[in-house]
Amino acid sequence: MYELSNRHILLGVTGGIAAYKAADLVRRLRDQNAFVKVVMTLAATEFITPLTMQALSGEPVHLELLDADAEAGMGHIELARWADALLIAPASANFIARITHGQADDLLSTLYLACAAPKFVAPAMNQAMWGQPSTQTNIQTLSERGVQILGPAAGEQACGDIGEGRLLEVADIVSEVSNHFQCGALAGRRVVITAGPTQEAIDPVRYLSNRSSGKMGFALARAAAEAGGETTLIAGPVQLSCADNIRRVNVISAKQMLAATLKAVDDCDVFIATAAVADYTPVQVADNKIKKNAAEMELTLQRTDDILATVSALPQRPYCVGFAAETDDVIAYARGKLERKKLDMIIANDVSDQTIGFQSDENAATLITADTELLLPRTSKLNLAKQIIDQVGTRLPGHSD
Ligand SMILES: Cc1cc2nc3c(=O)[nH]c(=O)nc-3n(C[C@H](O)[C@H](O)[C@H](O)COP(=O)(O)O)c2cc1C
Repeated sequence: MYELSNRHILLGVTGGIAAYKAADLVRRLRDQNAFVKVVMTLAATEFITPLTMQALSGEPVHLELLDADAEAGMGHIELARWADALLIAPASANFIARITHGQADDLLSTLYLACAAPKFVAPAMNQAMWGQPSTQTNIQTLSERGVQILGPAAGEQACGDIGEGRLLEVADIVSEVSNHFQCGALAGRRVVITAGPTQEAIDPVRYLSNRSSGKMGFALARAAAEAGGETTLIAGPVQLSCADNIRRVNVISAKQMLAATLKAVDDCDVFIATAAVADYTPVQVADNKIKKNAAEMELTLQRTDDILATVSALPQRPYCVGFAAETDDVIAYARGKLERKKLDMIIANDVSDQTIGFQSDENAATLITADTELLLPRTSKLNLAKQIIDQVGTRLPGHSD
């Protein structure tokens, strides 16, 4: 029994020199008992014939947006619904640009938009095309939207260049897609994560806030969803997007975040508090913009409720994970917070190193529980998030190795 047995894999092939490798990809997916349907762009058909792909997949190859044979003349919707996963391999620079910008001008790009299944994109192109800022920005955008980017690999290219841009090895593509269908560390679990800063209004145009970017919380939400968790992300005001399989609740203030959290944690298994919730909020919010008259002004603040401590004190509490961002005595402070708030786990961050943490894409941390202290060395926030989620998964009640 393979992870891919009986899975419906929709394979999109675009116009690049590596298109011939898509033939082998179909065979390897079929070896794992996956059902494979192939959709090709017009350019792809210049590199490999639809007949080859049809013979290997055992299914008609789809090329045209206007499909008279489809039941309601809407082949793209039928295919999108059929798919358990949409895999684009090879993905040309052009196709990556088109899907990043939401274009729908042929069958494959239209069904990309229509498809709610998990998406995998395996880029393949000349190293200079791959290195272009436009390509890199597009890839980053897709990745932030929850698309799994597979590769590319580095090495000698068909054009004679050496560098990054080769299609990832077919076996590696198959195993990445297959991993997705493995029972993840949080399969069957409900997870609630808070992320980002809060904004505490002073008057209709001013607020108190902090530098939290929300990136760590968004990375954790993605890792939790990829690990099979039914994930709710309660997000303060940040400019970040998340994948369709994450339920997102947007809030502004600490008070709103507490209310949204209490609503969401009912019946949940794991609560991860990454949000940098304001500790204090103005006692009064002026109805009108405060005028610049006096040389000094005083603002009276009151403590906000501690969301994490509130959740951890609930009678039916979930597994509670906190974050401690400190500049000195990081571990001792974090351990104190773990005990004071009765948490199950705390992730200690040294934010005195300004190259990691708050606005950065990288982070390093120490994972602390009552009986463990695990150093998680510097890596991308997504990698760090995956390691944290794995550790949480193994510590949940009912977990079996
Ligand atoms: C011989 C040849 C090889 C090409 N190889 C690639 C490639 O490996 N990767 C890529 O992104 N574009 C490649 N291109 C350019 C694409 O074919 C072109 O951008 C095309 O519009 C892609 O269409 P599609 O994205 O709709 O499939 C190549 C073009 C030619 C003529």
